[in-house]
Amino acid sequence: MQSQSVRGWLMLEARESVRNLAIYHPPLAGREGLRLDFNENTVGCSPRVLKRLREITAEEIACYPEREPIEAVVADYFDIQPDELLLTNGVDEAIHLLCEIFLQPGDEALIVVPTFAMYEISAAATGARIIKVPTGEDFRLPISALLSQVTPRTRLIAIANPNNPTGRVAEPADLLEITRRTPQAAILVDEAYFEFYRQTLLGQWRDFPNLFVARTFSKAYGLAGLRVGALTGNSEHIRMVNRVSSPYNVNGVALACLPAALADQDYIRRYVEQVREGRELLQQEFAAWSIQYWASQANFVLAKLGLQTTGFVESMRARGILVRDRSRDYGCEGCVRITLGTTEQTTRLLQALRETLAEITTKEVSAK
Ligand SMILES: Cc1ncc(COP(=O)(O)O)c(C=O)c1O
Repeated sequence: MQSQSVRGWLMLEARESVRNLAIYHPPLAGREGLRLDFNENTVGCSPRVLKRLREITAEEIACYPEREPIEAVVADYFDIQPDELLLTNGVDEAIHLLCEIFLQPGDEALIVVPTFAMYEISAAATGARIIKVPTGEDFRLPISALLSQVTPRTRLIAIANPNNPTGRVAEPADLLEITRRTPQAAILVDEAYFEFYRQTLLGQWRDFPNLFVARTFSKAYGLAGLRVGALTGNSEHIRMVNRVSSPYNVNGVALACLPAALADQDYIRRYVEQVREGRELLQQEFAAWSIQYWASQANFVLAKLGLQTTGFVESMRARGILVRDRSRDYGCEGCVRITLGTTEQTTRLLQALRETLAEITTKEVSAK
């Protein structure tokens, strides 16, 4: 029950939906080592971005940021119209805005689990009911189960493609079928890992107006620290999102750097190539150790070690490599997620992985 002040008035309290939120606490400090735990670019952004960063003037910093000219550059790069795009403070903000605009208490948001935590947090904070649709053991998108949960109150369906933490992808035709059969809901297809997969639904909102596609510059582009992403969709809907968004949601430094990042596609191509090769090698390594993994289309692989994940994560950390324990995600007990980086980093990763697995296996055998 809400407490009362001396005058008998109610005291300030967060909304009930916020008080009831499950707490999401990714580590925010102590990440020394080779960072293969957050799906970031492991070597950083293009040198062209750094050059632009060094040229930034005091006057540029003093001015409120101008988003529109940069939105035109990004829209051109995506081959869509500028009014079909809103730059956001990372995809995190895009998710938040969509929830703010389309959800109200009593509405339903469908989320296929396991997936990226922010869908549930942003949706639940609005007071909407979260309907979790579990994937099977193969972590494929459960289309029929998802559609069977749709009701007239369904207002949001969020799907990461490729999904995090599994790396699994959904067929474009399936995503469009969901969109077609749920016209009352915003369908968010989160393409944060697009560059490692190369299939997109950008522009499909012209046939399916309730479709939104999100992209980030935090992953392949190495700009996670600048916080910039994009929400794209039907121009009427994007106009509504714009009503709620702060006009200065993306900072001026990020906006200044974004064209330089986009212009250096060679840098992205070279990096992505190495990640894709590394992904193959890591999957082969898991297969060689008879460790279950899920074929990934992103810059990470999820594997079920079948042993104490905390011990594994600690042993890898002792060898200077950070990986992420995903045991607490739905269906991921005993799983770790490992991000891929450059060829040289993959060599280092595989060496540490072999040593760690050998060490753990020896301990297990001697404990028997
Ligand atoms: C599927 C997915 N969407 C969005 C994000 C966050 O992106 P941003 O840094 O643009 O907020 C992540 C980060 O891990 C993610 O995995």
